[in-house]
Amino acid sequence: MAGVPNFPSLFSLDGKTALITGGSTGIGYDIAAGFLQAGASKVIIASRKEDGLKSAVKDLNSISGIKGKAVYVVGNVSTMEGVDAMVQALEAGELKDGKLHVLVNNAGASWAGLFETYDDWRTAKTFDVNVRGPFNLTRRMVRFLARAGTSTDPARIINVSSVGGTTVPHIGENGAIAYAISKASMHHLSRNLALELAPQHITTNTIAPGWFPTRLANPAIEKYGGIDAAGADNPLGRLGIREDMAGVAIYLASKAGAYVNDEAKAKL
Ligand SMILES: NC(=O)c1ccc[n+]([C@@H]2O[C@H](COP(=O)([O-])OP(=O)(O)OC[C@H]3O[C@@H](n4cnc5c(N)ncnc54)[C@H](OP(=O)(O)O)[C@@H]3O)[C@@H](O)[C@H]2O)c1
Repeated sequence: MAGVPNFPSLFSLDGKTALITGGSTGIGYDIAAGFLQAGASKVIIASRKEDGLKSAVKDLNSISGIKGKAVYVVGNVSTMEGVDAMVQALEAGELKDGKLHVLVNNAGASWAGLFETYDDWRTAKTFDVNVRGPFNLTRRMVRFLARAGTSTDPARIINVSSVGGTTVPHIGENGAIAYAISKASMHHLSRNLALELAPQHITTNTIAPGWFPTRLANPAIEKYGGIDAAGADNPLGRLGIREDMAGVAIYLASKAGAYVNDEAKAKL
């Protein structure tokens, strides 16, 4: 009874394979790096641009002390054809053994703009990437996840949403209303999947970050007055940093998060 059993491996990803969409840049890259540093065997990053993927994989594999490796697959999650082509490539290549322990639906897109004049093509693109993307990719990955999960160490789906999916942090000039409602749908996707897939030993959780300086967020942060001004408006007095994101994702993907199912809405 003295200590917690198996404590040294509680936050380890030893032996796990993860697929991270949008893993070549920003938040996805930091999750990929954190997973490798936590001992993952294989981290597959996916996005549309092969140059970015190649250079990210090179960077990730240069992290000192890692036992696993980073690899990539080119894929566009915003169309069913793109998702199917990506899954086919994975099945013939990096996921030949048919098992995936962690799926991180992180790829996302945002276009700012006023509500009344917002272009419909922007709404469609936002929903294609942020809603149809995770919905369709997850459907196709269920069989891989089900093969990897057990009741004590389930496979994990981690959906990267946004604080804008649960609250209305910005409106008007600073708002991104189509993005906000697309992210709100991700939370309900997680709630549904948490119940739908638990019997197959797959849990689903949502990370809802506040601002982290990345390619996607930088224009909005600049418009708001820059990193310092935006950080000052956060109750902690700062924006998110790389460790914040890696930490919460490692928790959700490791044994430490095994019994968490649609609960960890970490509002960073
Ligand atoms: N940064 C923040 O403050 C913040 C706050 C809340 C939530 N988030 C969320 O965090 C996630 C990551 O964003 P980020 O901030 O790290 O920005 P980012 O660096 O721009 O990352 C977005 C990633 O998604 C990929 N991507 C975009 N469209 C894609 C598609 N159709 N198919 C596959 N991959 C696609 C991009 O790669 P390619 O261009 O090569 O496809 C890129 O790697 C997003 O879901 C975003 O909504 C970010």
